Formats: sequence, C-alpha cells, structure tokens
Amino acid sequence: MSFTNETDKQKYYIEKCRELIAAKEQKLGRKLTACVVTFGCQMNFKDSEKLMGILSQIGYQETDDEHADLVLYNTCTVRENANLKIYGRLGYLSKIKEKNPEMIIGLCGCMMQEPQVVEKLNKSYRFVDIIFGTHNVFQLAELLYDRLIGGHRIEDIWDGTTEIVEDLPTIRKYDFKSGVNIMYGCNNFCSYCIVPYVRGRERSRNPEDIVKEVEELVSNGVVEVMLLGQNVNSYGKTLDNPISFAKLLEMVEQVEGLERIRFMTSHPKDLSDELIEVMAKSKKICKQMHLPLQSGSSRLLKIMNRHYDKEQYLTLVDKLRAAIPDIGISTDIIVGFPGETDEDFEETLDVVRKARYDSAFTFIYSKRSGTPAATMPDQVPEDVVKERFDRLLNLVNEISREKTKHLEGTVQSVLVEELNKKIPGYVTGRLSNNSVVHFEGCKELIGKIVDVNLKEAKGFYYMGEMVK
Ligand code: SAH
Ligand code: SF4
Ligand code: F3S
Repeated sequence: MSFTNETDKQKYYIEKCRELIAAKEQKLGRKLTACVVTFGCQMNFKDSEKLMGILSQIGYQETDDEHADLVLYNTCTVRENANLKIYGRLGYLSKIKEKNPEMIIGLCGCMMQEPQVVEKLNKSYRFVDIIFGTHNVFQLAELLYDRLIGGHRIEDIWDGTTEIVEDLPTIRKYDFKSGVNIMYGCNNFCSYCIVPYVRGRERSRNPEDIVKEVEELVSNGVVEVMLLGQNVNSYGKTLDNPISFAKLLEMVEQVEGLERIRFMTSHPKDLSDELIEVMAKSKKICKQMHLPLQSGSSRLLKIMNRHYDKEQYLTLVDKLRAAIPDIGISTDIIVGFPGETDEDFEETLDVVRKARYDSAFTFIYSKRSGTPAATMPDQVPEDVVKERFDRLLNLVNEISREKTKHLEGTVQSVLVEELNKKIPGYVTGRLSNNSVVHFEGCKELIGKIVDVNLKEAKGFYYMGEMVK
C-alpha cells in the first residue's frame, strides 16, 4: 500500500483493525473493551484522548476497568515515584492477563523513551504486548494491527520526530472543555528535568490548524479550551512564518462561541509584555497564570538553567498583578535540588511570601538519570529535604487560605464542571482564576457558565449560591 500522508495510512490501519476486532467479537459472542490509564501531565491526558479515539474507532468499548481486553498505560517519568508506580501496577495486570488470554497489554508515554526502562521490560515483563513512545502515538492502530496479525510483541520507539500528524480521531473526557496542543516537546533543558529527553525538541503547530481545531471543538459544544505546551511563551518562534503566543491567543479569542481560554505552562523567561497586554484586555482569557518558580534562589536558578533570577521573577508577578487585578497565580517549586543550602531555601520562602500564590505544587527533587543534576555533588540528605518540604507546604497552604478569603461574598462567573462528588444535589465549578466552588444545582448546569455568590471561603475552595 502507498499513502499520500500519514493520516490516510493510519485510517487504513484503523479499518484493518476494525475488521479483526469485529471477527474476534463474533467468535467470542461479546464486545471487546479497552481501558487507557493516564499518568502524568495534561500532555499525556491529551495523548490518551487520541489513543482512546483510535481504539474506539477500531470498535473497542471504553471502560475504566483494568479487567479489559486491551489495557494501555500512558506513562510519566518526571519523578521517580511516577516511574515506580508503573512496575507495581504491571504486576497486578499480569495476574489479570493470566485469566484472559485475549488480553493485550500496551505501554506508551514518556517512560518508554528511556532505554533502561525498555531493557527492564524486555527482561522481566515479557507479558507486555505493545510498547511505543511519545513520538508515535498516532501509530497505535498500525502497531496494534502488527500485534494482532503477528501474535508477537511489538516494540517501536522513536528517538525524535519533526512530524505533527493532524486529523486523527479523538475522544474527549469532557463535552464542554478540552485541551488543545499548540506545541510539542521542550528545548529548555532545565538541569533537573527529563522532559526534553523524552518529549524531544520543540515543535509548534500551525496557528491555522489550532484555530480550526478550536472551531470544531466549539461547534461540538466546547466552551473552554486549555492551550497546552511545556513552554507556551516560546510558541511559534520556529514556524516558517513566526508568530508570538500573544498573537495566537488573539486569533483563538476570535472564535465565536468560545467563552474561556486557559493555557499552560508559562516559562517566566519568555513571558512577554505583549502577552500581559493581550490578557489584560481579553474578554475570554481566564485570569489565571501558572508560573513555575522552581526555586527562589538566584544562585540555584542559574544552576537549574532557568534563565531568570529571583528579582526578575518577582517583577513579573508584580506586572501581572498590576495589569490583571484578581489574577490567580500558581506555581511549581522543587525542594532539595542538589546543593540547596538553608539560605537558598530561605530565598524560596521569601518569594512565596512576596508572590502570595493562590496555589502551589511542591515537589521533592527526584534524581532523573541522564539529566545534568543527577551527577551534581551535594545531593541534599532526605531528612533535611523533608523538613524543608513541610515548612514550605505549611507556608503555601497558609497563604492560599488567606488568598481565598479575598473573593468571599463576591459574585463571580463560574463554569459548572461536574456533579459534586460528596454532596447530593450540588455541583462543582471553576472561577476564571481557577478556584473551585461548590453550590446547589443539577446536572443540566454542567457546561454552563453561571453567576455564583461565593458565600464562604473554605480554605482552598468556596461554598456558594447560584444567583438567579
Ligand atoms: N514545562 C513545565 C513543567 C513540566 S514538569 C515548566 O517548565 O514549568 C512539571 C513540574 O515537575 C516542574 O515544574 C517541576 O517543578 C517538576 N519537576 C520536574 N522535574 C523534576 C524533578 N527531577 N524532581 C522534582 N520535580 C521535578
Ligand atoms: Fe522541564 Fe524546564 Fe522544559 Fe519545563 S521548561 S519541561 S521544567 S526542561
Ligand atoms: Fe510526565 Fe511526560 Fe508530562 S514525563 S509530566 S507525562 S511530559
């Protein structure tokens, strides 16, 4: 067979798999099910929607139950515990497979891009049927076809790619909101981080393709999009016709019917004044900024290869707050980077006090082999890290609680996302600044934007009342 493009080729394999699966179903007298389990970040969640889209076109019924005919783990390796979790769960899957000979186990995602992982799987986890990486997610049907026809294990991991395959099927977890990839990979090589090694070099999608996808989403009922990239602020720089992230936002804003735009992640080094201006005057861009700090120590920031210092970071926060009052600012912080001294850590606490984050994700440094930081001297002892981590967490929580108080008693527009998991007759939604509110309501409200009075701030969320 010859194909004019990759999309057509994959559609051909989807059809081929469809025939095989239909025949299997006839033989077994039942539907076949597939379960995709996602670990890690928004990028992986987005990839999983594509994987499930392909599987569902092939004819698999989607399920959350790992007792399925096909189970695919989309893995993360950003910290060691993410990675260890997979081995534990694979042991459990092998037991299920013993009882269902039809079962196919697949592994994909960031962990598979590490040669030592694949080596270990080859040695001790022979029951895994399909292994692929982050660069060929779009090939799932082709790989599955090879597995179904050949009956042997399929392993296909690419070192990198320049290709972006558009227009393959996808299944969205939510009807009313969706992530949209605007770029893939990362060029920043922060010295602790494995992402550039497992996700490859930065590639931006064409703005026209992005806008087209957003238009299609909106015509299917989506009101909120989250533009995704490891560093959205460097979007478009390498395109044939370079364009800034701020310009892309202005284009997306034009899409009629779209109500809300979010994006992540912003690298402080590339956050432009142009972006702040566009955000300040926008009607649709949410008042939210995730701005990873990593450390407050200028000395460590240099060794982390972050390309900004403490003062530059704080200046950015001030600029954002001045231009966009009520903006919710969140961050990521790593504790225990090699060589972190008490003084370095105090600098981090100082930034937290000054930036007054609405929320912060705090991580204990995890050594990732292959990154420059893994071989740096003075890895910080575990008990010291633990003590610092607890202090940081307490401070972060205390400030979040105070910040939540600010909007107490005000009326805010809220996108209703789901039925409340704990209180019957209640729903849960999000404000523009990403805070969560629970209030009385029914499932018909899901996906709607309504006005809610934030009656009571409860630490990290609100209890509210819908304004009729
Ligand atoms: N591209 C995003 C971050 C992606 S990874 C950015 O640059 O901000 C998400 C977070 O995981 C990072 O912000 C960092 O805080 C954390 N992280 C990355 N590598 C880590 C490591 N080796 N140990 C602990 N935390 C890490
Ligand atoms: Fe990792 Fe840094 Fe790239 Fe973020 S910007 S993904 S922390 S290397
Ligand atoms: Fe993990 Fe890969 Fe995301 S390593 S954090 S899933 S880019």
